[in-house]
Amino acid sequence: GAAVEVDISDLKPGEKITAEWRGKPIWILRRTPEQIAELPQLDGQLADPKSERTAYPTPAYAKNETRSIKPEVLVVIGICTHLGCSPTDKLQPGPQPSLPDDWKGGFLCPCHGSTFDLAGRVFKNKPAPDNLEVPAHQYLSDTKLLIG
Ligand code: FES
Repeated sequence: GAAVEVDISDLKPGEKITAEWRGKPIWILRRTPEQIAELPQLDGQLADPKSERTAYPTPAYAKNETRSIKPEVLVVIGICTHLGCSPTDKLQPGPQPSLPDDWKGGFLCPCHGSTFDLAGRVFKNKPAPDNLEVPAHQYLSDTKLLIG
């Protein structure tokens, strides 16, 4: 399918937009400095903190602490890697039912309860076999992304 250009100049810290590429929802989230700082603290609770699994291989440029080219901007396919449901945003921090006690925000799949952090990394002991997929992408400028 054709690559898709997305302008992220209006995307504010803590906001997420959804683009579409090959019929799939592409989530683009601008993380706050606090959200970025919290990611490494979650590693022990995650199934694959370093994105080494290969069901949905993570591109080399996103195989890092934030799973992204720019630390603040997450780009992932918004489809659960278990059976393809649409996870919902759970961006509020603090304890919430059916979420890890020290929940820092992320995504929750309503179908079978897989939870993902704000880098799309799946928590341990969840049915989803892999982190959310990072689609091929690049920056055409500071504020323009090319997906695909
Ligand atoms: Fe998401 Fe099963 S489809 S947990």
